[in-house]
Amino acid sequence: MALKTPDFNYIYSFNFDHHHNELCKLESRHLFDDEEKNKLLFSNIKVDPTISSFIKNRFEIIVSSENYSELIKKIKEEDIHSEEFKVEYLILDGDGTGYRERLEKLRDIGYSIEGESNYYAPAKIYSICNYQDVWYFGVLIKQNKEWQRHKKKPYSFSNSLSTDIAKTLISVASKGNKNINLLDACCGVGTVLLEACFAGFNIEGCDINWKAIRHTRQNLAHYNYTANVYLSDVKDLNKKYDAAIIDLPYNLYSYSDDLIISNIIESTAKLTTRIVIVSISDISNLINNTGFSISDSCNVGKSGKGKFARKIWVCEK
Ligand SMILES: C[S@@+](CC[C@H](N)C(=O)[O-])C[C@H]1O[C@@H](n2cnc3c(N)ncnc32)[C@H](O)[C@@H]1O
Repeated sequence: MALKTPDFNYIYSFNFDHHHNELCKLESRHLFDDEEKNKLLFSNIKVDPTISSFIKNRFEIIVSSENYSELIKKIKEEDIHSEEFKVEYLILDGDGTGYRERLEKLRDIGYSIEGESNYYAPAKIYSICNYQDVWYFGVLIKQNKEWQRHKKKPYSFSNSLSTDIAKTLISVASKGNKNINLLDACCGVGTVLLEACFAGFNIEGCDINWKAIRHTRQNLAHYNYTANVYLSDVKDLNKKYDAAIIDLPYNLYSYSDDLIISNIIESTAKLTTRIVIVSISDISNLINNTGFSISDSCNVGKSGKGKFARKIWVCEK
């Protein structure tokens, strides 16, 4: 039987509510240059699932086959030795394999790997899945959900960004690259900084309001994170960054108008060539006047206790 060789190394599975559909697709475009479809994405690009609130698992393919016996033969040929491992069945869209059969397959794979298994605290998770009649065996990396602790950060305010939006802004600004320097130009109580620190990004924050900066520092200290945060107008910063995030003042707690918005964007534009901006109105004309072009955008609808919809603008020089 002819065996398909996949032209991708990773299978990503996603989990999100329908109101986050656009946000998740925006993130996918900037991490993978592609959009997830039916909560699945096949790619050669390696992304840490923990940076996203939508990527549930990354399945790294070791071997594949259209024929199950052939798959087991291939796994044995890999001569895998692993201590403290576990095998999980990953059910993908369209896979109708029943419970008993799945258990049998997990057993087959367990017997094909040398070493002790550990069901409750595995050091490594091997996995099997079936998609469109092809069997895949590989290593499963699950999202570390510890970031959800940030939802109960000590200091917050009613218009703080949600953790889902904050994580997406970092993914989009960084394109998943943890070796670059990021700036949160209007950091408020540090919602974005917490997510960036947790996922291992280099980030600094700045805010003109002393109370916001104090709360950011207290929030960071609460989770033992360290990041430089400056009590400053962004116009007075003089460092260079690879990308910046701006959650613009909404004219609710901090006053805002077109001039203030333009000044913040223009000041940030002197520090970087890539900016991801959050606003509550259409600011495309203001962005275009700063010499940046809008390369992508997305609407984020109201959700939960959120009072207003937001717009995200990806801007490049
Ligand atoms: C919408 S809030 C940001 C909220 C933040 N993303 C959070 O979730 O906590 C906008 C922030 O911009 C700050 N700000 C306004 N003008 C600024 C400026 N010129 N430079 C730096 N920060 C500024 C305000 O003090 C306010 O904290």
